[in-house]
Amino acid sequence: MSSNLFEDTDSILSEERIFPPTQEMVDNANITAYMKSKGFDEYEAFYKWSLENRYEYWDDMAKELHWFEPWQKTFEWTEKPFFKWFVGGKINIVYNCLDRHMETDVRHKVAFHWEGDGGETRSITYEQLYVETNRLAKGLQNLGIKKGDRVAIYMPAILEQIVAVLAVARLGAVHTVVFGGFAASALRDRIIDAEAKLVITADGNHRGGKLIKLKQISDEAVAETPTIEHVVVYNHQQLEVPMKEGRDIYWNDLLADVPADTVVPCEPMDSEDLLYILYTSGSTGKPKGVVHVQGGYAVGAYATTKFVFDIKDDDIYWCTADVGWVTGHSYIIYGPLMTGVTSVLFEGTPAYPNPDRWWSVAERFKVTILYTSPTGIRGLMRFGEEWPAKHDLSHLRLLGSVGEPINPEAWMWYRHNIGHDELPIMDTWWQTETGSILISPTIIQPLKPGSATRPLPTIEADVVDKNSKSVGLGKGGFLVIRHPWPSQMRTIYGDPARYLTYWETLPNVYFAGDAATIDKQGFIRVQGRVDDVIKVSGHRLGSMEIESSLVSHPAVAEVAAIGKPDELKGEHVKVFVILKNGFEPSDELAKELKLHVRTTVGALAVPEELEFTPSLPKTRSGKIMRRVIRAKELGEPVGDTSTLDG
Ligand code: WT7
Repeated sequence: MSSNLFEDTDSILSEERIFPPTQEMVDNANITAYMKSKGFDEYEAFYKWSLENRYEYWDDMAKELHWFEPWQKTFEWTEKPFFKWFVGGKINIVYNCLDRHMETDVRHKVAFHWEGDGGETRSITYEQLYVETNRLAKGLQNLGIKKGDRVAIYMPAILEQIVAVLAVARLGAVHTVVFGGFAASALRDRIIDAEAKLVITADGNHRGGKLIKLKQISDEAVAETPTIEHVVVYNHQQLEVPMKEGRDIYWNDLLADVPADTVVPCEPMDSEDLLYILYTSGSTGKPKGVVHVQGGYAVGAYATTKFVFDIKDDDIYWCTADVGWVTGHSYIIYGPLMTGVTSVLFEGTPAYPNPDRWWSVAERFKVTILYTSPTGIRGLMRFGEEWPAKHDLSHLRLLGSVGEPINPEAWMWYRHNIGHDELPIMDTWWQTETGSILISPTIIQPLKPGSATRPLPTIEADVVDKNSKSVGLGKGGFLVIRHPWPSQMRTIYGDPARYLTYWETLPNVYFAGDAATIDKQGFIRVQGRVDDVIKVSGHRLGSMEIESSLVSHPAVAEVAAIGKPDELKGEHVKVFVILKNGFEPSDELAKELKLHVRTTVGALAVPEELEFTPSLPKTRSGKIMRRVIRAKELGEPVGDTSTLDG
């Protein structure tokens, strides 16, 4: 990293608007009750206490969950930066999501109201979810799935996707959910890396009216994976799909002889046993399998759901993310189910068939808590205020945002049009690697548009220079966390050396990859990535993935992919392509190359801009200098080019 990286990140916040909480919010908040039990009535003093008493705080949170056996030690650095939380404890996160509620009134509560792309609806109670999860767990057991096995889940946003995740975790097997919008080779690579034995998929699904043939894509992927023994197919759309004898089995056939009263006890898992692997993009190399474990992850997801979303018994909670991303893991499935809340699960897209689809879903299900993305908000903003105005959104009491910085304009629109000028917005900063929210206001804290505000209890967030020294208020720097937290990733699957880079890029701290500032009042503003990760609609893409897709095309010699600011998506992809001898630039070729990215990586990665070029700036050792390309493209100072070749 060059020394003048902060030239464009140094910034003094000009945002002056501050929105304090109402007294009622403060009085009724979950976090207030906990703070009071520790003798505090004000967040900042409580936060200071939490930094000095982090193990007491996490012990308290963990004690609210069910453990088969208690832990002996709260935290241990095994071999720095490797660590353990709740050492010796035995738990199963699914017991906490389902079994525990069978003894309380939550049993009869709706766990999920589901709405399909086409408008059909279905609701499932906690008891029904428990029954279906047990049945599928039995079915998977019959296929030979056991503790530690990896299972890939490639499904649409339907209730069975949630059942699949829970059934796998119940058995102590490890799920790797692959976003239903990814292409065959992306699915294939993830299956190969995880050495998955089984894929659970569906025939297909509709999103925004478009049919996605999941089984067909999964067949293409599985054809090139040596480890897959079976493919379970949920028949969601009654499509005719080829079924391979001996390998493929329909979900319904698998469960045909499994009675409704089947109970497959939750596998008691060590705190540090794997719960899931979720693939995400880094700056270099293939996607990395972020590893989360049962114990710490459960505690982190639970505590943050309870405090950030301030979940109460009668809430109707809706997170618009997809289960294929970490947000869906922590805040559609695990966190909400552990709190026993009623949630909404939506299969469709925000503006189909009309730009008020989301607001219509929120109105009809009487949603009280809405958690969504800046891209979603900006996208719907464009259609105008009249669309939300058609709907009664008065049930809403709390809003959330995640995935990328939310610009103050979108923040204000969200508050005004969706939050009837009074609802608090939780701008939550976290990552696939962090497992749960680390920086966010709670309902009792003041808000500032465009700022994720303050770290949650025990989270020692700071903005530092390249020696891990605090840069001080108002100065740009690297966003880091100084001490592990329970839900943090434990390693990169099969590649511990890559895990080390998170702790070794800057001395002795966890470096997240983001630039940030802390303003004079202590509000944190996250500005975006300082590495070559591109954030399209809040989703992470590695420049490498796009580049390796394109160089696999016969016409392409070399490629550089960069992210460019985009009013709607946050960033979009631009690629610079050097063609092989004998190929000429043309519009048709550009089109073909874009299609190639779509079919090899997925729609999200398709470059919005493609430029043919005869050369690319490189270091003397031959590495493409994306930073230089990006600066030139945006008309910014190019910075340190001492390593540039020629
Ligand atoms: C990256 C992590 C966390 C779930 C979804 C994304 C960016 C995330 C915010 C926010 C500013 C944010 C960061 C981070 N990011 N939330 N509230 N404000 N930036 O998870 O795909 O692992 O991406 O998303 O750049 O590093 P992810």
